[in-house]
Amino acid sequence: MKILFYGAGVLGSLYAARLQEAGQDVPILARGRRLADLKEHGVVLREATGTGKRTATRVGVVERLAQEDAYDLVVVIVRKNQLPSVLPALAGNGHTPDVLFMLNNAAGPRQIVDALGKERVLLGFPVAAGWREGHEVRHLVLPGWLQRMQKTPLGELDGRTSPRLGRIMGAFRVAGIPVEASPNMDAWLKTHASVVVPLELAVQAAGADVRRLSRTRDALVLLARAMRENLMVLRALGAPVTPGSLRMLAWLPEPLLASLLGRFFDTEFTEMGLGTHADDPLDELAQLAGELGDLSRAAGVPTPAADRLRGHLDPAAPPIPDGSARIPMDQHAAVVAALGAAVGALVVLRRSRSR
Ligand SMILES: NC(=O)c1ccc[n+]([C@@H]2O[C@H](COP(=O)([O-])OP(=O)(O)OC[C@H]3O[C@@H](n4cnc5c(N)ncnc54)[C@H](OP(=O)(O)O)[C@@H]3O)[C@@H](O)[C@H]2O)c1
Repeated sequence: MKILFYGAGVLGSLYAARLQEAGQDVPILARGRRLADLKEHGVVLREATGTGKRTATRVGVVERLAQEDAYDLVVVIVRKNQLPSVLPALAGNGHTPDVLFMLNNAAGPRQIVDALGKERVLLGFPVAAGWREGHEVRHLVLPGWLQRMQKTPLGELDGRTSPRLGRIMGAFRVAGIPVEASPNMDAWLKTHASVVVPLELAVQAAGADVRRLSRTRDALVLLARAMRENLMVLRALGAPVTPGSLRMLAWLPEPLLASLLGRFFDTEFTEMGLGTHADDPLDELAQLAGELGDLSRAAGVPTPAADRLRGHLDPAAPPIPDGSARIPMDQHAAVVAALGAAVGALVVLRRSRSR
């Protein structure tokens, strides 16, 4: 397959290099300094964890997508706020039937469909993490079994498993990229943003310091509440939480969820992934937080904790004091869970006595 990668950043580079190494023809569209770096060095990847392996892959590099250029597939991997800048060239190109958008998006596919028409569009999400250091892309590598679970979701707008989706998934698999067909990619993306945006905002609220977030209970409580609020918005809009396992964020007792989140942030792996992102420009985060705000207004569901975290996008906003634990925890769910467990134990006890 001839696959153009539109966007030569962290994840465009990572996916493109893997597909090229597996024998596909994968030119990358780049601009500015990145264009010059790719021409000089190829795609240089270095593992930030694991063995620290470094690879350099030669790829074709193009500067624009012309009207008459023909590819079997274009994969768009840019930041969400950059999407409007790539749509005109894609709309003007009449020789590429299939365009796969792999980026964060809480607002739904309307903007893309309006520009390209719904027949050409597929959605996906790049499940990986990394950052740029000069001309190198450093990426996080999970331990083996977790890597196999880390599947890249891809889907048609209507959720069908079409022949072209099968072909694209096949090409990804041959490149060693685990994939899964998603029957509702829009719900997947909305759920992902509902969780990840508060997570990144909480890092900002803790002064862009992941370890500090891990020990600042108030930021963790706001994070737990913001994620819950966002999932309530999705529910009100009729968008199923996808994957369903994330529904547990809605029912786990707040003290337990805050404590689990604290542990999650207190690891070198999380610090590397989210800490580095915290240095990145906040333009996409602001865009996505705005999109979630629009969803909450459309659903008529207030999101006070999410709004409070969003305030930390303002560079003038003071971070939540290190270690602060003043917000009272919502013990309601914990009490209900404890009562439920006690009633259950009593029932079991009475039954066993009556035998
Ligand atoms: N990085 C991660 O760890 C990670 C993890 C999971 C998901 N994601 C998501 O994946 C998506 C892509 O992230 P990323 O980290 O790969 O972003 P990135 O490193 O910022 O890459 C975006 C690339 O697209 C280029 N670009 C944007 N508009 C363009 C245009 N009109 N013409 C040509 N090139 C253009 C950018 O060029 P310039 O640099 O010149 O702007 C940049 O090279 C985002 O939605 C992100 O949230 C990222």
